[in-house]
Amino acid sequence: MGKESNYVSKQPDAEGIIHWTDEENQVWHDLVDRQLKCIPGKACDEYMKGLDLLDLPKDRIPQLHELNEVLERETGWQVAAVPALIPFDEFFRLLANKQFPVATFIRTREEFDYLQEPDIFHEIFGHCPLLTNPAFAHFTHQYGKLGYAATPKERVYLARLYWFTVEFGLLQTDEGIRIYGGGILSSPAETEYAVNSDKPERHPLKALDALRTPYRIDIIQPVYYTINSVDELFEISDMDIMALVREAMELGLFEPKFPPKDAA
Ligand SMILES: [Fe+2]
Repeated sequence: MGKESNYVSKQPDAEGIIHWTDEENQVWHDLVDRQLKCIPGKACDEYMKGLDLLDLPKDRIPQLHELNEVLERETGWQVAAVPALIPFDEFFRLLANKQFPVATFIRTREEFDYLQEPDIFHEIFGHCPLLTNPAFAHFTHQYGKLGYAATPKERVYLARLYWFTVEFGLLQTDEGIRIYGGGILSSPAETEYAVNSDKPERHPLKALDALRTPYRIDIIQPVYYTINSVDELFEISDMDIMALVREAMELGLFEPKFPPKDAA
């Protein structure tokens, strides 16, 4: 956010329909096809249930109104078409109104494996299944309201809590590690790594720790935080998160577990 994007979102027509090209629909198909093969036994049950409810088309990019019918019914959420990059203020305003921003462009084949900017595949396939879950939906709504009211400096801290939950959160279940973070679930390499690799550190989530943990958006994560069930997000929503933000600001950040960007 705040920097330039190489992509431009497609505008919906007067009926709210976005006209995707055959190639864009094919890229969606190939991304969904690949990711569906990666997630069994790795994505959490709540995600799989959400995927069932959404019943996403494979051969074309879904229209936003199709998602809205399901999200509205399940949790009162909506998806909202936005430009490729939006200001933080707009991002939080949308979440505070139970509207999940979806940049309406899809990656090119050159960036098939990974791109830093969230495209429609990441937003829909990564996040929308969990938005059918009441705990996840409630947490995201609370987060939006806090972020909308926060100062720019507080928002930088809040962003870390979002990163280690909504984007890169893991569950520690009786069956083993499962994924609920959309940043992982839209990446085949990280889906495999987050569950099966012994390289990353995995710690039980404490909100204060997450607020103090630096991250980089352009690498596979060296540290993840786990909760025991998606329902724990209800408990985190009830905490005085802004008091924890102020505490985190006083204590400062943990040492990064990754090299500085320039040296990488
Ligand atoms: Fe995301």
